Amino acid sequence: MKNNRPQEKTLVLIKPDGVQRSLIGEIIHRYERTGLKLVGLKFFTPSTKLVEQHYLMDKGWLEAVGNKSIASYKKRGKKLPFSDSKKCGLRILETLKKYLSAGPVVAMVWQGNEAVGIVRKITGGTEPLTSDVGTIRGDLTLDSIILADIDGRAVRNLIHASGSSEEANKEIKIWFKPSEIVKYRLVQEEVLYDVDLNGIME
Ligand code: CMP
Repeated sequence: MKNNRPQEKTLVLIKPDGVQRSLIGEIIHRYERTGLKLVGLKFFTPSTKLVEQHYLMDKGWLEAVGNKSIASYKKRGKKLPFSDSKKCGLRILETLKKYLSAGPVVAMVWQGNEAVGIVRKITGGTEPLTSDVGTIRGDLTLDSIILADIDGRAVRNLIHASGSSEEANKEIKIWFKPSEIVKYRLVQEEVLYDVDLNGIME
């Protein structure tokens, strides 16, 4: 095939709510039909240690998630549980450890042109209430930050998808051994990526 440009990889987790809602097939179908290639797949219940490792890998994550939460409280005119973004992030981390280790998850690695951006577009924004119609989170579930806050739990949004290529490479190393990433060619890559698109006509 003429075109060997490097392709991106991204990590996707179908969280326990996605598995329990019998959405594994539907979710995989949405990513698969874009032309992205599935190169890693496993099904197991992650330990709280693995979940913590996953979210704390990015040094700025605690503050970023804390700030987003504080902003959402302020927007709603609600009293802040913590004014410190790190403390707020730590509280969310505890809820995430409980959420992701509550049952089996599907961990996947998808590969292709702009895989991170393509997956995030299909997945939709963090909060199902405000994520776009047509996205997985917008179409297939209904949680909101308000309800999650009231109940003191993580937002149940079916999926985790890496935020950038750099983040994806780090996350993939946490969830997969190098030997678990499968190197193979899909027939459709000839149509998606071949520069000349020849070999179709008899
Ligand atoms: P994910 O894409 O895995 O990244 C961080 C997760 O934290 C996010 O999906 C949600 O499940 C959860 N989350 C993000 N913001 C909040 C919040 N304000 N309150 C509770 N949970 C949150």
